[in-house]
Order: sequence, then structure tokens, then C-alpha cells
Amino acid sequence: MTLSGKKILIGITGGIAAYKTCELIRKLIKLNADVKAVITPTARKFVTETTLRTLTRNPVYCEQFDVPEWKPEHISLADSADLFLIVPASANTIGKIANGICDNLLTSLVMAFNKPVILAPAMNCNMWKNSFIQENIIKLEKAGFHIIPPESGELACGYEGTGRLSDIDKILEKVLKIFNEGNFLKGKNIIITAGGTKEPIDPVRYIGNRSSGKMGLALADAAYSFGADVTLISTVKVDKPYKVINLSTAIEMLEVVKNEFSDADALIMAAAVADFRVNKASDHKIKKADCSQKLKVGGGEPSIEMPFNASNQEGKEENLALELVKNPDILKEISVIKRDNQVLVGFCAESQNLIENAKKKIESKNLDFIIANDISNKEIGFNSDYNAVTIINKSMNEVKIDKTLKKELAKIILKEIFK
Ligand SMILES: Cc1cc2nc3c(=O)[nH]c(=O)nc-3n(C[C@H](O)[C@H](O)[C@H](O)COP(=O)(O)O)c2cc1C
Repeated sequence: MTLSGKKILIGITGGIAAYKTCELIRKLIKLNADVKAVITPTARKFVTETTLRTLTRNPVYCEQFDVPEWKPEHISLADSADLFLIVPASANTIGKIANGICDNLLTSLVMAFNKPVILAPAMNCNMWKNSFIQENIIKLEKAGFHIIPPESGELACGYEGTGRLSDIDKILEKVLKIFNEGNFLKGKNIIITAGGTKEPIDPVRYIGNRSSGKMGLALADAAYSFGADVTLISTVKVDKPYKVINLSTAIEMLEVVKNEFSDADALIMAAAVADFRVNKASDHKIKKADCSQKLKVGGGEPSIEMPFNASNQEGKEENLALELVKNPDILKEISVIKRDNQVLVGFCAESQNLIENAKKKIESKNLDFIIANDISNKEIGFNSDYNAVTIINKSMNEVKIDKTLKKELAKIILKEIFK
């Protein structure tokens, strides 16, 4: 195993376990990593710059100001590294990162860093149990930080409990795992769709669905972190380091997916595409008063019409009927042009007969995989950070994954698809 060519920033904060970081640096250097230490001003009280400079064979970074380079240190260091490892992560620094505070070089650097960050917290057991700390840890995990939890045992402060820095070899294992995973989709061009389509009724209103886009975005982030060239086609506006095409409707999505698909190795349709759209959306905002004026909206052949089959107490008509037409089935259309070496993955959200319906879809849409999620469970799925799914392949083999963070689930799904 080697880390040759890998550039690692090791962040050290003001905790008693800082001395153990020296051993971690030694092991990283032995694996040929290029290591640079970034320390908080408090960390200086726990470990010397001379030690760190000698072990890393690089300068040690602590100050944000009074540096010779024109480019701010937190930007140039962030640009230069592949991984940021914060060992030990103090309660204080964890709190700052979770709340976007950047008041020293290390915390500014974390905010500017768009590659994997590992935090290995270490603190007194009562500090670790504190609800603020726990909330911060959950927040960071949700945001995609890798947390290596502290271990139980005797603590330097004399207490016994959970708070001791994780075993150094476990941290090293995590580093190696991230770098190994980091390449497994290199050279693959993957299209992922995300979010729910919005089918216009008029310039103000639309027919939408409850999809938050979280699963699709998690898949796109995971594919990118695994080295893929990602194209995210999304109804949710996001700023990402990979290609994002933002759109609203099913028709637009079909057009873009078709354009992008010829160069792709895989298409993962995580977006919730509306089955129907309004035949002809109104060019003008439909007014409530229109209902009482027997106005037909839509221009030409009326597509939105008032059936005038209900009246209120003043005898005014109150109902509005929308004429809906079927949207194209994007997966079905793509399955016709798909080459044998292209992978087509669909999602299937059902509240009844999940597996049976998912299997039917695999066949009818000629899919390589379908990810089936049961939307009857309120704790998972729409708008939740968690999901539980069954991955089914063409041979109808099933892999069931219990409730998991969507960010983690995305990695499991990609590994299953491309294994
Ligand atoms: C002897 C000593 C040991 C400490 N050990 C820890 C520790 O293990 N974990 C922790 O979160 N804070 C610890 N602290 C408190 C931090 O040093 C303090 O919260 C500081 O503000 C952290 O700053 P930083 O996050 O900028 O490095 C310790 C303080 C002292 C005096």
C-alpha cells in the first residue's frame, strides 16, 4: 500500500491527544504521502512546530496573515491537497466548523476545502456527550464530513468514558479507504438526474411532487468523489464542482438527457419525473375571478378549462379543471437508444407491492438496475436525509439496504452498480 503522490493536510487542534498525531504523520510519511501540518494557535501549546516541521519535512502553517505568498494561505493550501485530516478535532473547532466560523487558518481552510475531510474528535467524555457537540457531529456527518468517533477507555483528564482519540491505525485505514475508493469510477462518464419536475399551470403555478432531490444529489456527490466525470441534471439549483444542468420540466429533462447520453457510461434517473403535464400552460396568471366569468384559459384549443359544475353561495362557479397529458417516459425512450455497454438505472417509489412493481419496471424499461424505495415509511424517502432501498439487477437479484444516510447509501448504490 502506498500514498505516493497523495497530498494530505493534517490539521491539529488544541487537545491533549495532539502528541498522537505525530505518530500518524510518521506513518503517512512512511507510505510516501506528502504531508503538511496546519495547526490552530492553541495546538502550539500541545505540540511544537519544530517536531511537526521535522516529521512532515514541510513548513508548518498556523498564521493567516504575515505570509509571503500573494494568494491567501487558506486558498492555496486548500487547492493543493487531496485530503484534509483533522486529528485531534477539539470540541471548539468542531463547533466552529459546524457553524461556518472561520477565525483561524485551520477553520478558514476547512471552509475552502471541497475534497474529503476527516475529523477525529478527542475530548473529555462529558464534553463528548454534551448535546451541542452531538448536534454538531450529526450536522457535520450530514454535510459529508467523515467522522472517526472517539473510543472508550481511560482519559488523560482522569475520567473513564468515551472521548479518547481513535486508534491511529483506524484513522490510517480510513485514509487508505478514501484514496482507494477515490479512483474506482475514474474515466467513467455518469449522468445523474435529481429533484422533482415542475410542470407549469401558468407563469406562477406548477404541478410538482415531494422529491427533494437529496438522493440524486448524494449520488452525484458520491460519483464525483469516486473520480467519475459527473453531469447532474437537476430541478434543484446547486453549485457543485462538476457539470450541473438546471431545468424544470419533464420535456426539458428528456431533451437534455438525450443530448448527454451518447457520451455517457451510465444514466441514473433519480429524479421524480411527473407522469403528466398540463396540456397547454396558460401564458397569463389564472385569476380567481376567471372562475366566475366562464373564461377558458390556454389559448387556441383550451387546455385549462372551468367546468362550471360547482357554485358557491353567490352562485359563482368555483372549480378549475386542468387537462393533463402524458409526459414522455425518459427511461423508456433512452432504453431504445442505449448501447450494450451503457448502464441504465431507474428509481421506483411505491407505497404498495414495491418489489413486484420494481421488477415489472426493470423489464418494461429494459433497465440494468432499479432502486426500489418504499414511500409508505414516513421516516425515510422524500425530504429525509435517510432512505432504505432494495437494489434489483437485471437478473432480478435483490440487495436490501436498511435505513442509511442518503450520502452513505449513494456510495453503496454506486459500488453495487459498478462492482
Ligand atoms: C490541558 C488541556 C487539555 C485539553 N484537551 C482538550 C481535548 O482533548 N479536547 C478538547 O476538545 N479540548 C481540550 N482542551 C480545551 C481546548 O484547548 C480549548 O477548547 C481550545 O479553545 C481549543 O482551541 P482550538 O480548537 O482552536 O485548537 C484542553 C485544554 C487544556 C488546558
